[in-house]
Parts: sequence; C-alpha cells; structure tokens
Amino acid sequence: MSNNFTILDHPLIQHKITMLRDIHTGTSQFRALIQEISTLMGYEVLRDLPLEDIEVTTPIEKCTSKVISGRKLAIVPILRAGLGMVDGILSLTPSAKVGHIGLYRDPITHEPHEYYCKLPDPIDERLILLLDPMLATGGSAVAAIDFVKQHGGKNIKFLSIIAAPEGVAKVQEMHPDVPLYTCSLDRCLNENKYICPGLGDAGDRIFGTK
Ligand code: PRP
Ligand code: URA
Repeated sequence: MSNNFTILDHPLIQHKITMLRDIHTGTSQFRALIQEISTLMGYEVLRDLPLEDIEVTTPIEKCTSKVISGRKLAIVPILRAGLGMVDGILSLTPSAKVGHIGLYRDPITHEPHEYYCKLPDPIDERLILLLDPMLATGGSAVAAIDFVKQHGGKNIKFLSIIAAPEGVAKVQEMHPDVPLYTCSLDRCLNENKYICPGLGDAGDRIFGTK
C-alpha cells in the first residue's frame, strides 16, 4: 500500500463503524451513521485545504485571520450508496457543487455498468471528492475515476467507509495519483465479491431495499 492510502482510525469513527456492521442496526440508524461518519471523514480529508489571510474587525480591534482560499469543491457520490454520504460532507462545505455518477455492479459478472453521469462543469479547477461507502473489487471506483478524468477532473480524492485489499490494490494500480481514504481495511472478498466482514449491501441498508 502506498502513502496515497489513508485509514481514518479516529475512535469516534471506529465506534460508529462497529454499529454500522451490526446486522441488528435498522435503516434509519444506518443512514444516520453513514452521514455522521462522512462528516468525520470530511474533517480529516479536507485538512490540507489551502488558507489565506483576510482582515477582520472584531468587537475589540482589527486583525488578520484565516479563510479557505480559492479551491472550489465538487462532491460526487456514486449512486446509490454514495448518496448516503453527501449530506455529511455538505454539512462542512455547504457551497460545494454536487455531481452524480450512476453505476451498478452486475450481480453475475460483478462488472460496473454506468447508467447516469452529471458533473459540475467546468470541473478541472475543483477538488473532487468521490464518495462510495464500499470499495470491494474496485471496479466501480476505477470506472468512476475514469469518468471524472474524462470530464477534465484532475484533483480527485476517493472516500470509502469500508475497503477490501483487492479494491485498494486495483485503484492504486489504475489511478496511483488518486488519494484513497477509508475507515476500515477489511479482510477479503467472498465468492460473491462482498467484503468480509463488511456490512452487507450498503445501498440496500441505506434505502431499506433488498
Ligand atoms: C456497491 C457499492 C459500490 C460497489 C462496490 O454498489 O456501493 O458502488 O458496489 O463494488 P466494487 O468495488 O466491486 O465495484 P452496487 O453496485 O451494489 O449498487 P447500488 O449502490 O445501487 O446498490
Ligand atoms: N457492495 C456492497 O454494498 N457491499 C459489499 O460488500 C460489496 C459491494
């Protein structure tokens, strides 16, 4: 694993991951946990945002103080499950633009299929946060990063909540320039390409489908 791969192991995140994994956690709590974890991830992932000084007048005197400079943000969830992460990041950066990439994994071949793509235009000057709670084989992540790059995206960070070693290796091989963040590097994939121990099907658990 390269130094473009970060595990966000803050105790608050780890505690919430355990609740996410639990088969007894219902839809509304699952959704809330995904959102809370995403906010905590955003706090860490955005810690290198550039700052600039501005002058501000306090009730006492004038001073110089920091604001985030220039770098515009695009948040791009991979549908469906990535949608669950959007509000958590937007709570930190309310003026970010939001794009969407629709992909589903074929249940037999496990290959990703695109059904929707709408990105902020232009996107080349933006920092792009690609969101998907699950990085399994890495097929969806690689396809989504391909789309973003085809649309001119250059500065991309990929945020997954749970990752399998196979998916991390694939993204790092195909897109070594894209920093990857996850909260847990799980053991492996099973024969159906689900992450073990994982949390099951993230989209179904967020939206209450089967
Ligand atoms: C899940 C998940 C990822 C993908 C990960 O989505 O949200 O997008 O699988 O698997 P991979 O790394 O092997 O590509 P899914 O295709 O089940 O679609 P959904 O979000 O609509 O349920
Ligand atoms: N997609 C999911 O939602 N869960 C997995 O474990 C793998 C892919």
